[in-house]
Amino acid sequence: MSGKKVIITGVPGVGKTTVINAAFDKITAEGVKYQNLNFGSFMFEVAQADGLVTDRDQMRKLDRIAQKRLQKTAAEKIAAIDGNVIVDTHASVKTPNGYLAGLPEWVVSAIMPDVIVLVETDNDQILVRRLSDETRVRDVEGSKSIAEHQEMNRAFAAAYSMLTGCTVKIITNADFLLDKAVDDLVATLR
Ligand code: AP5
Repeated sequence: MSGKKVIITGVPGVGKTTVINAAFDKITAEGVKYQNLNFGSFMFEVAQADGLVTDRDQMRKLDRIAQKRLQKTAAEKIAAIDGNVIVDTHASVKTPNGYLAGLPEWVVSAIMPDVIVLVETDNDQILVRRLSDETRVRDVEGSKSIAEHQEMNRAFAAAYSMLTGCTVKIITNADFLLDKAVDDLVATLR
């Protein structure tokens, strides 16, 4: 499959979708074409049609087998898309039974990313963003637990790099410095 494949991850509430959308607009204005795909939306479409969930935040509470089936369907659809692609997703998903790899072998090998981006920021900033975002049903957890999830995501990203040979890029999306994060992502997409 031709084109650059860029997988962008980050714990819920870190602002990855905000950074992606702004970077997508900028890179498009430069004349570089990308498709901006949200892995969760591909999963949600099937989960909703199957009557498993009514909102996207319920998906991470589904049993592991159901989540893996949804992941597989999403990965197959995304892998079939040609050209430059951004995939907005998760290095790992926090489920009631522990961390689930967002990109298990059959997903990451199907997509074969050139780079995996980890969007990160201070745990306290993520906590405040989650509390202020009324549009979503965010998990309520303390900053220590958020720190653990960010650490786990680095470990998962290293494993994905070992499997595919992709690079791992860390982008910080700090309060008042959204533009810096967007510019870093645009440079990665070019
Ligand atoms: P997904 O659609 O990725 O939802 P999410 O995890 O909640 O991520 P969001 O995109 O909503 O949050 P975000 O961190 O991007 O933050 P946002 O930009 O909104 O996934 C949905 C579900 O799909 C998952 O829960 C999972 O079940 C499933 N899924 C997806 N991929 C999967 C996979 N591979 N395997 C298994 N399941 C998978 O920003 C948050 C807030 O922060 C906003 O209010 C924003 O204004 C603010 N903000 C952003 N940047 C800044 C800044 N620099 N300064 C101050 N405020 C900021």
